[in-house]
Amino acid sequence: MTSWRYNWPLPPDHMQGAQHTQWFFLMTALADSRNVSATTEELILVLDFGGQTAQLIARRIRDQNVFCQLVRHDLSLERIRELNPKGLILSGGPASVYETNSPKVDPRLFELGIPVLGICYGLHLTCQLLGGHVTPGSKREFGRTECRILQPDPLLAGLPQSSTVWMSHGDHVENAETSFVRLMDTSTCAFAAVKHREKPIYGLQFHPEVTHSEYGSLLLANFVKSVCGCHGTWRISSLIDREVASIRSRVGNKRVICGLSGGVDSSVVAAILYKAIGSQLSCIFVDNGLLRKGESDKVRDRFQNHFKTDLHVVDAKDRFLDELKGVTDPQLKRKIIGRVFIEVFRKEAESIPDAHFLAQGTLYPDVIESGAAADGPAATIKAHHNVGGLPEQLGFELIEPLRDLFKDEVRRMGLELGLTDELVWRHPFPGPGLGVRCLGELSAPRLAKLREADAIVMEELRTAGLYRQIQQAFAVLLPVHTVGVMGDGRTYEEVVAVRAVSTDDFMTADWFPMPHDVLQRISTRIINEVRGVNRVVYDISSKPPSTIEWE
Ligand code: XMP
Repeated sequence: MTSWRYNWPLPPDHMQGAQHTQWFFLMTALADSRNVSATTEELILVLDFGGQTAQLIARRIRDQNVFCQLVRHDLSLERIRELNPKGLILSGGPASVYETNSPKVDPRLFELGIPVLGICYGLHLTCQLLGGHVTPGSKREFGRTECRILQPDPLLAGLPQSSTVWMSHGDHVENAETSFVRLMDTSTCAFAAVKHREKPIYGLQFHPEVTHSEYGSLLLANFVKSVCGCHGTWRISSLIDREVASIRSRVGNKRVICGLSGGVDSSVVAAILYKAIGSQLSCIFVDNGLLRKGESDKVRDRFQNHFKTDLHVVDAKDRFLDELKGVTDPQLKRKIIGRVFIEVFRKEAESIPDAHFLAQGTLYPDVIESGAAADGPAATIKAHHNVGGLPEQLGFELIEPLRDLFKDEVRRMGLELGLTDELVWRHPFPGPGLGVRCLGELSAPRLAKLREADAIVMEELRTAGLYRQIQQAFAVLLPVHTVGVMGDGRTYEEVVAVRAVSTDDFMTADWFPMPHDVLQRISTRIINEVRGVNRVVYDISSKPPSTIEWE
């Protein structure tokens, strides 16, 4: 599989109607050409009309153990025939089908005999082409709504009579009864789910791919299994095989550099590359002195002893600390850490003369959340995320084998590739590392203090069996001294805050209701074992309005 995808920024808020459509086409014109390789596996194709959740549809289908890829909406019929998919899904999108230049499909697509499921814009297009009208609604419908079944169908097997679905649309289907049977409706939408009277062609006004649609996954499972007849034999190992084959053919006998961060994404990339090209892989690990306890040793152990890669560990601790001297502003810290990282990395990369490619562990949500391709409306809250972290001026061709995947798919890949549970389920750790958790000015002794406190938090969470229930937890060292009493003496020492959050997507988060006995053990141990800390506090703020990290 060649790595492909494109990111459409959301159109600016003020754009309406035809302008919206032009935006869509501009974005399409900018798009990469996508190559999808023919396969003998059961395949579902998602034709992408630019919806924000199109890639999520593909992921939900892969969850059913059926291989699924996102492709351009205008993929030729010949190519579709060649790929021989078991089913086609037409995604949602920002345009309106009645606009002159809105994206269309060749109507002969519906003659191929392949089952089709149109979602939102995909439904509108299907109805417009096969008999029905699409009109602008008097107002947009956005959010949860109750949807009821009007007629049983294999697509709806196992769904209750009434369930919650997620709507996000302005346009409505009307007068489609001649060609379509109504399967579901809501109080405001007569054609919430439809089926063509003669062909295995379905449409949904709501979005089954988002978790707010209670039975959305079941519905998609019914489509691929019952309607398309897929058996669900695809495994994540097939994806690894595809990536390995694609990397081999792209890289040939050239050398690839992979930057390791100690986290799961870059480790999975390195493990795939190692499987694909073995000794042609060189890994660079920059020890910036902002890592957690034991991290550097673990990387060495994994990639030098276990995978036996050509591992370059660069000890840049002093350089980072020097550059960060006197700096307390969080964004400035991030900028300095980012710049120094690139400089150190570049220098090391130059010492590997035959390197041609650079591999990165960019995931699909990184691309979306960072607004990487966009001057979109989403405000940048923190200058973070690693997309494009290493600038193109480094002069390498990029390899991003995880760019279409979601985190849990990457975790499954990691386990399959032989990475340890501990690494695969590791909580996310920000690029600037302890640099943004050691508040105020950084120094080697303060970082050491934080490292010890953080290790205690992790240890206690694992012992209590809570590590996997919490999505992210860590210690923060505050630049505040408070008074305490130890033995007979007065102390005046620093404070450690403990942060633990529950979250689905890290965009919003709740503080984790930590059992008191665990808090007690963490607090006692930190105060007893970490010199220079006499107080521990627990962070009970949600995101928003707080953020997960303190800086
Ligand atoms: P916030 O603090 O924005 O964090 O609620 C959301 C997620 O992003 C991680 N994060 C970062 N990751 N570089 C990174 O690579 C950064 O500068 C950075 N800042 C925050 C944070 O750990 C959480 O998982």
